[in-house]
Amino acid sequence: MSRQTIAIGADHAGFALKTAMVDELKSMGFDVLDLGTSSEASVDYPDYGYAVARAVTGGAAFRGVLICGTGVGISIAANRHPGIRAALCTHGVMARLAREHNDANVLVLGARIIGTEIARECVRQFLSVQYAGGRHDARVAKLTHPHFEEPAE
Ligand code: RB5
Repeated sequence: MSRQTIAIGADHAGFALKTAMVDELKSMGFDVLDLGTSSEASVDYPDYGYAVARAVTGGAAFRGVLICGTGVGISIAANRHPGIRAALCTHGVMARLAREHNDANVLVLGARIIGTEIARECVRQFLSVQYAGGRHDARVAKLTHPHFEEPAE
């Protein structure tokens, strides 16, 4: 079986953590598509959010990992792409449930919020569990096809 590819991207605030996560992904046996940035020189986080989103929706990568200072800006950027469900996680349980319940396809980390070990745990959880389906299908479908009416109840 061919190895799965994970796309990763970060802004300058996430660059150092991205380097550590690239090593983690390789040690887990994944191929890594590193879409930058490649230094701590200041850049704009949406550019990297969009690049990883394109890689995932276009099929160049199986899943994505995004990192900025808080994780907030780059997750907003990624989630503007139809088909992307980017989950900002600060704990391994969040990362696991983002896959099991939300079928998230991009993990987002905040380099100024969490440390390297928590980030590693998030990556390991995110990439080792499957979407649970079942009762979650209708909810995830509503993310794919949003509606803005009032809830019935
Ligand atoms: C960069 O200074 C910072 O604003 C960015 O990494 C991120 O935290 C934005 O949401």
